[in-house]
Amino acid sequence: MNRKKIKLFMPAILILTSFLGVIGCTKENSDQQPTAEQPKQEAPKQELPKQETPKKEAPSAPTTVVKNGDPLVPNPNEILVLVNKKRHLPSDYIPPDLIEPHVTFSFSGQSPKKTMRQEAAKALENLFDASQAEGMDMVAQSGYRSYSTQKQIYAANFRQMGESANQYSAQAGQSEHQTGLAMDVTCSEIGFQLEDTFGNTKEGKWLAKNCSRFGFIIRYQKGKEDITGYAYEPWHIRYVGQKAAKEIMTQGLTLEEYLSR
Ligand code: DAL
Ligand code: ZN
Repeated sequence: MNRKKIKLFMPAILILTSFLGVIGCTKENSDQQPTAEQPKQEAPKQELPKQETPKKEAPSAPTTVVKNGDPLVPNPNEILVLVNKKRHLPSDYIPPDLIEPHVTFSFSGQSPKKTMRQEAAKALENLFDASQAEGMDMVAQSGYRSYSTQKQIYAANFRQMGESANQYSAQAGQSEHQTGLAMDVTCSEIGFQLEDTFGNTKEGKWLAKNCSRFGFIIRYQKGKEDITGYAYEPWHIRYVGQKAAKEIMTQGLTLEEYLSR
């Protein structure tokens, strides 16, 4: 190509080169994907406060300490202790401040089953007083149970029901009753039985609606069996304190969910 021809084609060459340059920049930018990456970088900034706030309000359950293959809770004396099939109590654990609440029981005579930890016992008295004032006829049936008592109860249930006992009965060391923070309650309408029809009685309905005002939760809710490990138990109330109880009951959470937020 001679000089004249080059001069003639020069404008065309310049236009073509700058056009290719534009394509190159566009490709480079799309490889960097600024628009796609920006939201990824920004998302955690927006989510971070949401994740942190509940943690401050609800302490997450501390990890277990494995002893002889047993996953033991490190904080058995705490009011928010989480005991379930994966988090056990030591066989020698006895709550420090068991007392008998002044409430009506379904049986007479003295029994460790009538006791609860002091804070829970006082709260239960307030709950029963309020329920009576509103015309309810509830009775308490079973509170604190030692490791060995729970062992006997589970063995009897297993003999009767086989594997399905695991849906209703905790093995020794896995029962909230050993914490001294749980109480089973029932009423005369269902012959003082512990069965899910309790949830349909006026006492059962009152309990589900009002227990959180006194710091209790219905621990084993319908539809949450996969999380709690147990069938619906409208009669089993667990003391967690008013703040946690209100959040758990109004938001339809399990204690497991509340403590892992
Ligand atoms: N019924 C409950 C799960 C217990 O045995 O502790
Ligand atoms: Zn119970």
